[in-house]
Amino acid sequence: MSQEKFSFDFDVYASIDDLTAADAALLRDAQAATAIAYVPYSHFHVGAMAMLANGQKVAGSNQENASYPVGICAERVLLSAVSSLYPGVPIETIAISYQAESGKSDRPISPCGICRQTLVEYESRFQQPIRLILGGKEGKVWVFPKSSLLLPFGFTGEDLG
Ligand code: THU
Repeated sequence: MSQEKFSFDFDVYASIDDLTAADAALLRDAQAATAIAYVPYSHFHVGAMAMLANGQKVAGSNQENASYPVGICAERVLLSAVSSLYPGVPIETIAISYQAESGKSDRPISPCGICRQTLVEYESRFQQPIRLILGGKEGKVWVFPKSSLLLPFGFTGEDLG
């Protein structure tokens, strides 16, 4: 028997002002994209903005449904939009922000499990890491060098043999 440890490094910034200009702009775009969320049920707005390898940016936001499970998270709306608008173009970075009904948005939130699985699919499809920038409308910002770090031991197409 042996024990192994899994750990990874990520960057923590005190505020959006400490990011590079490009990363700060992408996070501001994600903050703005919270305004286009359709969230009549949860009133929890999530906005995401992708920077593609071709320099284009694509926005996503959560889209809810009266049949609650039909609703789609901002991250998966974004990935489907990118895949449809720019097929074959890898994503370099995605910034994600949110606005709670309470008005609070002062710490990062991270993608749900289904979205992590979808992000990993996109990474393995293009064999290229997708950086994540996670931050609220204020407060600390987390930057992860690749999305698959958030899904340790994830299942991918390679497992299908
Ligand atoms: N939501 C996202 O859009 N992304 C996440 O990573 C977590 C949750 C949405 C789903 C639902 O519309 C609302 O936030 C509340 O769960």
